[in-house]
Amino acid sequence: MRVAGQHDALETIETASTDELQDLQLERMQWSLKHAYDNVAHYKQKFDDTGVHPSDLKQLSDLASFPFTTKLDLRDNYPFGMFAVSMDDVVRIHASSGTTGKPTVVGYTKNDIETWAKVVARSIRAAGGTHKDKIHVAYGYGLFTGGLGAHYGGEYLGCTVIPMSGGQTQKQAQLIQDFDPEIIMVTPSYMLSIVDELERQGVNCQELSLRTGIFGAEPWTASMRENLEKRLGIDAVDIYGLSEVMGPGVAQECVDTKDGPTIWEDHFYPEIIDPESGKVVADGEEGELVFTSLTKEALPIVRYRTRDLTRLLPGSARTMRRMDKITGRSDDMLIIRGVNVFPTQIEEQILRIPALAPHYQIEVTRQNNLDMMQVNVELLPGAESDKITEAEQALNKYIKDIIGISTRVVAHLENGVPRSEGKAQRVIDKRNLT
Ligand code: DLL
Repeated sequence: MRVAGQHDALETIETASTDELQDLQLERMQWSLKHAYDNVAHYKQKFDDTGVHPSDLKQLSDLASFPFTTKLDLRDNYPFGMFAVSMDDVVRIHASSGTTGKPTVVGYTKNDIETWAKVVARSIRAAGGTHKDKIHVAYGYGLFTGGLGAHYGGEYLGCTVIPMSGGQTQKQAQLIQDFDPEIIMVTPSYMLSIVDELERQGVNCQELSLRTGIFGAEPWTASMRENLEKRLGIDAVDIYGLSEVMGPGVAQECVDTKDGPTIWEDHFYPEIIDPESGKVVADGEEGELVFTSLTKEALPIVRYRTRDLTRLLPGSARTMRRMDKITGRSDDMLIIRGVNVFPTQIEEQILRIPALAPHYQIEVTRQNNLDMMQVNVELLPGAESDKITEAEQALNKYIKDIIGISTRVVAHLENGVPRSEGKAQRVIDKRNLT
């Protein structure tokens, strides 16, 4: 039996010097590129076509000459064509559904599962968790990486894991009251539904056992953090990840600094590129996040274009670099009459209006060749319906003044905006239907 609490302390690499970290990264990157080239026909072909060979990587910055990988490459090699090991060594499959076409399939060896559990355990620890904590996991279990990823990490740390999964909101609220978890792991949008339910039941959320929320899998703003922290009396921290790179636990915000997720760079090497030119930009500059896995066996991934927009920041609570909160995915960016808009920008404005609940959905249509945006919001439970016009006008004004676009705002009564039990669908694009 393992000793309780043996994983509560930081790993040496988390506070190693930058030089030590970079030496390790270089050694691992050389291994990972060779592993991909030698064992995945797709990588061999692509490297050969680009005229690069794994032995060309003499320093970390040489990575810039290697070709990118995209979701399309995974789709083209569906289901298992990008695996670098025999199926005998693959112990787990996950898949992300995506909105169209075939899912993206990812695989893990026994070592990969252990690495993943370790980085998630490291993430929970960065959020202030120890083996003494009970963790309520409300990320979905199944092909989505959220539930099982959080689960194995919690167990690795020695916590008591409550595998609730997503859905059954009343039961979520019940078990939180009965089992007294200190930590909850869930998408921020579904957390809102759970808090609504607790409040509906008349529970004083400040008095619950919950101390920390580890929220991620979708973009969320600093204003949403404030809302959740206040209503639940917790610390809310950001967890980032994606299935192609591993799952949750690629990066985690430290609770002591709350200044953006620290990237676990000893396993996942980040770059930021200009999405148009593909050129690497300097740390601190905005662009698209790209990852290269350094230790993965079953599915080594080289320069994977995440489509997530952010920037790299220097280390703070750890040596490793941080990423800024994700503004949005380039796929989610709406261009409304020439102005670029992300749902998170709308979220910030909604949360400024006291009469509005933080639930929202954006509908985009095209009328007479013009893109029209409708923002559906909701009044707080119990709010007088005569507040509707006032709230609509206020939000309209904020969006016009701050973002610079005219929208139609429709404030609904309670439950007028659809809820999700996992990732919220913020945008309904009806432009191809109209
Ligand atoms: O969402 C993995 C995950 C599960 C992360 C649970 C955190 C917690 P995918 O389904 O492959 O994997 O979706 C990955 O979700 O490229 C981002 O666009 C978005 N995303 C994930 N975490 C965050 C976050 C999981 N903290 C995609 N902030 C990514 C903003 C996030 N977006």
